[in-house]
Amino acid sequence: MTEQTNEAIVGGEERNLADLRRMSAVDKQILIFSFYRDAELRGARLLFNLIGHLKDADSQLKMTKHLSDETRHAWLWTRRIADLGGSPVMVPDGYQRRLGMRIGVPRGIVEVLGLTVVVEERAQSRYMAHAALPNVDAETREVLKAVTEDETWHLSWIEKKMREVAREEGQEAHADAILERYRQIDRDVFATLAADEAELLRA
Ligand SMILES: [Fe+2]
Ligand SMILES: [Fe+2]
Repeated sequence: MTEQTNEAIVGGEERNLADLRRMSAVDKQILIFSFYRDAELRGARLLFNLIGHLKDADSQLKMTKHLSDETRHAWLWTRRIADLGGSPVMVPDGYQRRLGMRIGVPRGIVEVLGLTVVVEERAQSRYMAHAALPNVDAETREVLKAVTEDETWHLSWIEKKMREVAREEGQEAHADAILERYRQIDRDVFATLAADEAELLRA
């Protein structure tokens, strides 16, 4: 399947749950790792956009490390895919794209930080749910462990920074409201993908 189209649209018309059920265990793995890879690359782009806006030394240090982590995560998933003999599946309609369509363009630094918080929370919970499954091979487990540790750090510094900037700008109430709004949208969006992901993890 990956060689024919190299593109996956889940929860949409091109591919449905029945198609996923017919995939081989390895193709399922390649597709789920492609979802993770896509989310990491799009997360890296979010960080890249942020890096010109928070100019203090501490933020620059943390954002640069954070950006390098996200690109490394994309690499770790890409390498897992290559080790399985596959190539990354392009994901034009994945989690982050759907989230972006619903949220629109964040306005101001507090909103960009808020979006990053929600994306990090989702990455962490996806990886933890995957690691909790009984049938995970050792190589995948190792990648999941490495990325989850980083996501925990990302989440903690980015949320702290969001609160700090909101306080400085007198936008604390807005920060709470935006997080609540984004988390609700994240739950709605992820619900559209959850059945497909669960099927892929059944590999
Ligand atoms: Fe990541
Ligand atoms: Fe992250």
